[in-house]
Amino acid sequence: MAVIELKNINKYFGSGISKVHVLKDVNFAADRGQLILVVGPSGSGKSTFLTIAGGLQTPTSGSVEVEGNSVENLSKAQRDKLRLNQVGFVLQSYNLVPYLKVKEQFDFVDKVKHQGNLSKEGLKGLLEQLGISELINKFPGELSGGQTQRVAIARALYADPDIVLADEPTAALDSQKVAEVGKLFKDLAETRNKAVVVVTHDLRLLDFADKTYEILDGKISLKDKEHVLDR
Ligand SMILES: Nc1ncnc2c1ncn2[C@@H]1O[C@H](COP(=O)(O)OP(=O)(O)O)[C@@H](O)[C@H]1O
Ligand SMILES: [Mg+2]
Repeated sequence: MAVIELKNINKYFGSGISKVHVLKDVNFAADRGQLILVVGPSGSGKSTFLTIAGGLQTPTSGSVEVEGNSVENLSKAQRDKLRLNQVGFVLQSYNLVPYLKVKEQFDFVDKVKHQGNLSKEGLKGLLEQLGISELINKFPGELSGGQTQRVAIARALYADPDIVLADEPTAALDSQKVAEVGKLFKDLAETRNKAVVVVTHDLRLLDFADKTYEILDGKISLKDKEHVLDR
């Protein structure tokens, strides 16, 4: 069974003459153990797609199912619980708490989600893998764009979610770091049996993907890696 599935999703913003059709009959499924990439140019609907997949926004029509359960049938409390326990977001805005040091960002997760987070050892390994161990006493404002991005990734993975949804997680990284993050995501999918969905216009991630979708003007289609955009 797909761990997350979108069925005939449509999303409109606005009304009247300013009404825009941003997602058009989107069908999508992610399985555990896979790193899935959704590539597309700016404005194609990637962030809208990802936030709907993770229940941060509701679609105009269609359904989102997590582990076979339709999200729209859940109460708000159940939906919040699902997001907290099963979904890890790496958002474009990073969402780090500005007045907390890097190490305190993880304590903050512990306060919100009381169980199922990585062990001390697990966190140490994750920080090493992302090359950010030496940043733990810094505040978000003292980090570069790429460092911020990696801390945001660590924070999402610390909660050990079944489903990882990442929005442009590599935009600020150089090619070597992109490869490291690509490997980390792929590893996470394969060895820890997670579903990892990355939306991006960064084609440097293509080589790490098990499955690649392309989104253009709100329409999504499954692609052969070789035939994505300008490759
Ligand atoms: N809250 C919103 N209200 C109105 N239009 C929106 C809103 N969010 C996104 N859009 C529009 O939807 C389209 C897709 O946006 P987005 O999903 O952010 O694309 P991408 O992430 O691929 O750049 C864009 O034309 C954008 O202007
Ligand atoms: Mg976006």
